[in-house]
Amino acid sequence: MNSTLFSTYAQDYDRLQPLRVEMYQFYHELALDMVPFDTDDEFRVLELGCGTGNFLQRVLEKFPKARCVSFDYSIEMLEHASQKLANYSDRTEFYQRDLHDGLPSELESFDLVSSFSTIHHLFDDNKIRLFREIYDVLRSDGWFFLIDPMSTRFDEDVFRQFRRRQHLRLDSRFKRAGADIKDAERINTMVSQISDDSPEKDRIARFTQHIEWLKDAGFRSIDHIWHLFMEHFIISRK
Ligand SMILES: C[S@@+](CC[C@H](N)C(=O)[O-])C[C@H]1O[C@@H](n2cnc3c(N)ncnc32)[C@H](O)[C@@H]1O
Repeated sequence: MNSTLFSTYAQDYDRLQPLRVEMYQFYHELALDMVPFDTDDEFRVLELGCGTGNFLQRVLEKFPKARCVSFDYSIEMLEHASQKLANYSDRTEFYQRDLHDGLPSELESFDLVSSFSTIHHLFDDNKIRLFREIYDVLRSDGWFFLIDPMSTRFDEDVFRQFRRRQHLRLDSRFKRAGADIKDAERINTMVSQISDDSPEKDRIARFTQHIEWLKDAGFRSIDHIWHLFMEHFIISRK
């Protein structure tokens, strides 16, 4: 067992993350609805930062011929994902990887690359390189689904008001679920204490920069599908 942030969090992730992140279920469902294939299509998905496999589970259930390859830094997250998706083991491959190192060179091509709440952990130069590698690994016309926190300019009062709302809503979600708010505080403390050189540290970049980097990587279309406060969903096409 390694003692990284997400490895420590892995066992509680499925219980706490949908309570911590207001729109967690919503954006996974939205992304699933946007998967551009018919139920019987054969296609390949690359998931970057699969966590406990929540998006993959939805894809594998809905599309019986989809095949998925996943990377994540945390071995414990990968273990949870592979246990949860044991019924789909003939269609899934899991690999431990620090995405600061980019993608392995020997990968085959994919129809869809998805990455939710992960790329913001990378240094900006590594985000830029990863976007280029994602472009390269996609088949022509392929799709890249990116959901991640990104910063935008807010009026200070608007920002403060939204933060206040977030705290109130967090509290009420935990109460409604009969969960202990101290669990959320424990995770937040772990996040705030993570060392500056950790590969899992939050390194949130501006929304407009992401758009520039995706353009520079070569994507021919970049659509902003949804956002709430700092969470953004962008679909790019090769
Ligand atoms: C907030 S979780 C999101 C997991 C999943 N995508 C989801 O939507 O539930 C962030 C994930 O990114 C992984 N991660 C963090 N830093 C990483 C890195 N440098 N390379 C690869 N994965 C990383 C963590 O282990 C964790 O599984």
